[in-house]
Amino acid sequence: METVLSGIRPTGNLHLGNYFGALRNFIDMQNQHNCYFFIADYHSLTTHPTPKDLHGNVRQILVEYLAAGLDPEKSTLYIQSDVPEVVELYLFLNMNAYVGELERCTSFKDKIRQNPQNINAGLLTYPTLMAADILIHRATKVPVGKDQEQHLEMARTFGNRFNRMYGHDYFPEPQAYNFGKELVKIPGLNGSGKMGKSEGEGNAIYLADEPETIRKKVMKAVTDSGPTEAGQKKPEAIENLFQLMKVVSAPETLKHFETLYDNCQIRYGDMKKQLAEDMIAFTTPFRERIKEIAADEAYIAKAAAMGREKARASASQTIKDVREIIGFRAY
Ligand code: TYM
Repeated sequence: METVLSGIRPTGNLHLGNYFGALRNFIDMQNQHNCYFFIADYHSLTTHPTPKDLHGNVRQILVEYLAAGLDPEKSTLYIQSDVPEVVELYLFLNMNAYVGELERCTSFKDKIRQNPQNINAGLLTYPTLMAADILIHRATKVPVGKDQEQHLEMARTFGNRFNRMYGHDYFPEPQAYNFGKELVKIPGLNGSGKMGKSEGEGNAIYLADEPETIRKKVMKAVTDSGPTEAGQKKPEAIENLFQLMKVVSAPETLKHFETLYDNCQIRYGDMKKQLAEDMIAFTTPFRERIKEIAADEAYIAKAAAMGREKARASASQTIKDVREIIGFRAY
């Protein structure tokens, strides 16, 4: 049995990228493994949300995790800030994380380019906090999308460095939990290579989106004037639509449109209509559950309390061991 850990930043609703990148098969995962699913609310402070937004977003992700089928009895579903032991491990790991390696991290470089007015220390040390999330439960498998591959590599580096430094084989090496051969990158609808919350208006399809919203977003997706030669290579925006179809539509549907493309007979309007309907069929059960659970305050509170207790039990054991290994002892 593996210890699986998966995290999501509470900066908006869950979208198809989150679902297919990090949560696909998680019903099976929670039946087979010891699973931790958490809401990375400390991480979200790097962008300075208001207290009201932070609170609302954490609640929304909690609801959506539950709506997606996560069972708080089987898995440990918790809010990161309910487990302050994470912060202590973050401090320990920061002592052995070098500024140079943190500065070379791709997501840090992207962030400082996008937001030169907010280059805070939390952004720089984002990978050590993420490593602390993983190592605090000594997780062995981490379901992530392609965008988190480097962060996971850094978690391995920090864990191994700790083990070497103190001569203890304490932290196992966390590996990606792959749903296929490769880590997934779900594209966006506005020509952006990645579906994401900060990738612009209309880029992401959320599990909570109403059918009409989905239709509007998909019909607006970027296309071109169509192929002119049989078997022509698809430009990125078109490839993106096919990628999305691959995850939500039936294999025959995908094949049908592939053939039309290859024969230069494709009509993007038809393809988008089909894609929108398949996305609606996929998201509808989630949307309905989201509404039901959002109205059940007692269930949400109970799930969070159960998760807090289980997560703290595991985290406090790790901190106890780590303190001992480092040399903090009672006098
Ligand atoms: P976040 O909140 O950006 O995304 C949550 C998860 O969804 C995946 N994901 C995608 N996968 C494929 N295609 C996409 N377009 C796409 N967009 C998002 C992400 O890879 C991620 O797995 N730093 C993390 C949160 C985090 C975490 C952790 C994750 C904090 N600590 C420890 C795992 C382990 C983040 O910002 O993910």
